[in-house]
Formats: sequence, structure tokens, C-alpha cells
Amino acid sequence: MRSIRPPMSAPAFLREFVRNWKTVGAVAPSSPALAEMMMEASRCAEARHILELGPGTGAFTQAIARVMPDQAKYVGLELNEAFVHRLHEEFPGMRFECCCAQKFDLTQPDFSEGFDVIISGLPWTAFPESLQKAILGNVLPHLAPGGCFVTFAYFGFHLLPAGQHFRELLGSLLPNVTTTEVVWANLPPAFVYVARREA
Ligand SMILES: C[S@@+](CC[C@H](N)C(=O)[O-])C[C@H]1O[C@@H](n2cnc3c(N)ncnc32)[C@H](O)[C@@H]1O
Repeated sequence: MRSIRPPMSAPAFLREFVRNWKTVGAVAPSSPALAEMMMEASRCAEARHILELGPGTGAFTQAIARVMPDQAKYVGLELNEAFVHRLHEEFPGMRFECCCAQKFDLTQPDFSEGFDVIISGLPWTAFPESLQKAILGNVLPHLAPGGCFVTFAYFGFHLLPAGQHFRELLGSLLPNVTTTEVVWANLPPAFVYVARREA
């Protein structure tokens, strides 16, 4: 377990939403309650190699830093430069790449063992189908056997066409997708999709 610093400010997140609403996709960072649900659902506390997509202001990163084993390796892929700058400051021991999750080269030797946990904070319902496919197509081949992919959906928004398409796409790539109960202590309330690759 590591000690952690205070989380980044909600105003910083809102500022970036106003500038880049299409990619930020939310007006507020995820709550500690949702972060906790993501940690439990992914069994992040047992992970050896962790990939985070869209860490933003670090709502999930902070929870990951708290629970991940000392010897575990982490990399976060975030396209927003302002967020990456702050993530480097807030989590100096962790690796962040300023890049698009759909383009980052995960075939590098550093990642040769694959990831046993992939945690996504990406706003899937704000993405066109082509981008959903490109991102999942780039990262899921690197989910290790027995590994777990978790992502959240805002309750109600998951019924929108883009939300339904994402759910179908995920199910076509990883069978046995399950959902958690709704975390009401989040703005908006959200639940988690949990998908495991067979061991
Ligand atoms: C809804 S915010 C979530 C932030 C944080 N994980 C949380 O839950 O509070 C989505 C984040 O994904 C990032 N993002 C959007 N598209 C991305 C992409 N293609 N590759 C990497 N990061 C992306 C945004 O810049 C933003 O920081």
C-alpha cells in the first residue's frame, strides 16, 4: 500500500471539459465510491500489470495507487496534455503517456507480459462506433488470459445508441460481460461493466 496525495481539483476537470468536451465527456471526475467499485470489480489489489485508459484528473489512478501491490507495474494513457502534466506531478512514481489509446504501441517489450487489469475511464457513449472499435481493438489483444477489463457507464446513458453499441461490441470481443450494481454516489450515477478473458 502507498501513501497518496490529495486528489486534483474538480474545477480543473470542469475547465478541461469546457475546452475539450468531446473527449473529456463528463463534467466532473468520478467519485471515490465509483473508483472503489472499479477496484473491487477488477481485483486490482492482486494485479501485476495495470493499464488505465483516460485517467483524466486521477480519480481512478488514486485508488489504483492505494491498492496495487508494490511490485505491480502501471501505465496510464491520456490524450489531454494538461491532465498528463498534472498526473505526473500528483503521481510521480507512476508512468503516464500523453497519447490516444487507439494509437499507443502496446507491442513494446515493456508490455510483453500483457495486462491482467485494464481500467477504462473513457466516455464510450460520446465516441463514434469507429473510435470504440479502434480503442478496444488496440488494447484488448493485450489483456492477459484470466485478465479483467472494467469500464463504467452512466446509468440511463447506457441505453443511448452509442451506449448499446458499446455494450454489444464489448460482448462480441469478450464473452461473459457482467455489470455491477449502480453506484448512486456518483455524478451521474454509474455502474461498471466487468469483462474477463478466459484463463
Ligand atoms: C470521462 S473522463 C474520465 C476521467 C477519469 N478517469 C474519471 O473517471 O474521473 C475521460 C478521460 O478520457 C480521456 N480520453 C478521451 N479520449 C481518449 C483517447 N482516445 N485516448 C486516451 N484518453 C482519452 C479524456 O481526456 C479524459 O481525461
